[in-house]
Amino acid sequence: MENIAFRSRFTNNPDEGRLCFFEANKHIPFAFKRVYYTYGVKEGIIRGHHAHKALEQLLICVYGAIEIMCDDGEKKEYTVLDDPAKGLYVVRGIWRTMKWLKDDSVLLVLASEYYDESDYIRDYDEFIRLAKEGYWKR
Ligand code: TYD
Repeated sequence: MENIAFRSRFTNNPDEGRLCFFEANKHIPFAFKRVYYTYGVKEGIIRGHHAHKALEQLLICVYGAIEIMCDDGEKKEYTVLDDPAKGLYVVRGIWRTMKWLKDDSVLLVLASEYYDESDYIRDYDEFIRLAKEGYWKR
């Protein structure tokens, strides 16, 4: 997993805020075909609980704070996303959960492929079996 800081622009007036941007294959290491976002989630709720066979994703908390747990089958890494100027690049074959640390935090996801339920692994035992047999060969 890799933390990516986006390019940003701001004016001399801090009240005007910041504008962040990134371009596929330039500022982030893949091209995205799909964008989705999750919102209206209460603090303490944990979503995710799945891995992907091939999908790569960039996770951005555009508002609030969300803790991302990434498990490669051997170790778990925890990352708090609480800055819209940063994203977490999650490669294929990672079991992930996303825990809302604040009500109404918004998780924006850029995905390398169109939606395909057959790319999901929703059973943790199956994920561990595939990881151990070297399905992703890290
Ligand atoms: P899911 O990826 O399981 O969400 P989370 O990991 O946040 O809990 O998706 C929830 C539901 O939405 C599931 O039925 C699949 C559907 N879905 C789509 O139809 N298209 C999409 O692009 C995504 C991400 C999900």
